[in-house]
Amino acid sequence: MLEPEATKTAIEPCVHFIEPDAGQALCVRYRVDATSTLLELARAHAVPLHWRCGLGTCGTCAVHVTVLEGVAPPINAKEANVLRREGKAPGNSADSWRLACGYPLGGQCLRVTLTA
Ligand code: FES
Repeated sequence: MLEPEATKTAIEPCVHFIEPDAGQALCVRYRVDATSTLLELARAHAVPLHWRCGLGTCGTCAVHVTVLEGVAPPINAKEANVLRREGKAPGNSADSWRLACGYPLGGQCLRVTLTA
């Protein structure tokens, strides 16, 4: 039986940033209209996500992203090429390497593993 639209529980967009070396996690909730990229969210919350260009060319902001709720935004050829150059296998799946500076936040819940 389908659930009526009015009784569906809306997901609360959030990102769980994981620092593997430090063994720490920081969970950040966000509003879709207030934050546009994963990098912007990380910077707003002092998450140690390294970056340089902010333009999707240097590859410094590569992170491993797992989509827990919602849909992964499609990866474009430029992002895929930068990730390959950095030795990270790109993908369109819900569990892949992505560039934080070009990753649009559209209401997903994500687990983001930072690189050292
Ligand atoms: S900061 Fe350079 S590719 Fe994201």
